Amino acid sequence: MKIRNGFILNTRNENIMKRSSLLILLVGAFAALIPLFLKNKEDKPLKEAIERGLQRAEKQALVMADSLKNREGRLPKTFSNGRLQTCSCYDWVSGFYPGVLWYLYEENGNEEWKALADKFTSRLKAVQHVTTNHDVGFMLYCSYGNGFRLTGRDDYRQVLLTGAKSLSTRYNPLIKSLRSWDFTRNGLWQFPVIIDNMMNLELLMFAAKESGDSRFSEIAEEHARTTMKNHYRDDFSSYHVVSYDTISGLPHLKMTHQGYSDESSWARGQSWGLYGYVMMFRETGNEVYLRQAKHIADYLMRHPNMPSDKIPYWDYNVPDIPDTYRDVSAAAIMASALIELSCLDESPAASSYLDFAREQLITLSSDEYLAEEGSNGGFILKHGVGFLPGNSEIDVPLSYADYYYVEALVRMNRLLVK
Ligand code: GLY
Repeated sequence: MKIRNGFILNTRNENIMKRSSLLILLVGAFAALIPLFLKNKEDKPLKEAIERGLQRAEKQALVMADSLKNREGRLPKTFSNGRLQTCSCYDWVSGFYPGVLWYLYEENGNEEWKALADKFTSRLKAVQHVTTNHDVGFMLYCSYGNGFRLTGRDDYRQVLLTGAKSLSTRYNPLIKSLRSWDFTRNGLWQFPVIIDNMMNLELLMFAAKESGDSRFSEIAEEHARTTMKNHYRDDFSSYHVVSYDTISGLPHLKMTHQGYSDESSWARGQSWGLYGYVMMFRETGNEVYLRQAKHIADYLMRHPNMPSDKIPYWDYNVPDIPDTYRDVSAAAIMASALIELSCLDESPAASSYLDFAREQLITLSSDEYLAEEGSNGGFILKHGVGFLPGNSEIDVPLSYADYYYVEALVRMNRLLVK
């Protein structure tokens, strides 16, 4: 944990500090952020929402732990038709529940929670050798990454470094991207890269710092630049899938897989991109990523189809709006990213990012979205959408919605003056 600009942030990077004039940074940040501190100090609705959310998260996480304690190797995926759906460590969602446990341990400092977090994290040990998809970043960084951040354990560090090597095998130097999936949709895609892949770069940035091998961060930066060039439209919305021609290295198809249509803005994908570029700015200090993140944030915050309660529909362009599903995962990822963006951005816009995230967290912590204690199969949030066009996981709890909600609560909690 680093203390910067008076905030305790979930970051292990100091590049920004090195690159900026300390004086300008401190004076600018202090002036910009004082009103936020003062505002937050008196912000009773926000404080109540955070307290309620974290307390409920603890209760629900224990319900989940109880359900899974004798199901060796299983991890939570969703809850549908009254049944808990689990997965093995090889599913892309495997790391989120262990990550929730680490964040809750970070908040409560209770050693029993640390043991619980370790127990579920260790179920993912084999993932370090996965080279068949890009999700190894999600899986390991949310579980082992948080575990290492909070314990400094060398065995966790080793798993992360091996995982980063596995992920790097998916890099193609001609295309300058990591390949997301091996499946090709019946030969349609040559080299598919999805916007979600921005999230996996954090594992590579970590590995570069921990190992001293700059190849990891070079791959991450190349991928981030290529994605910026080819996934984004002029209005800063993102395609879901870009497939590259393996001979020319250029995009040959831009389309969707989980969204409403090829030209629509699939909501979770927009949030992944936002989070990814905020993270890349934090990790590199490169202003290009900050500008990209701010453009994406503006596009989303001002979107005409953003509901007044700030919980996006599953796709911003579904013609059925408002008679369609909300996706709490898109809201939670966006809230967490906006909180970090508000801390990194030194412009007057910073407070608008924080205000937006504040509203999202208050809404997510209301009865409409927060599960009643003991219900929802032990998941924390209701109303997520996994893959609507595939008729899968519609209006259900999702482990990644829970993870980014708890992360956002923890981040916001740190901004409140105790
Ligand atoms: N990364 C897969 C998804 O967001 O559904």
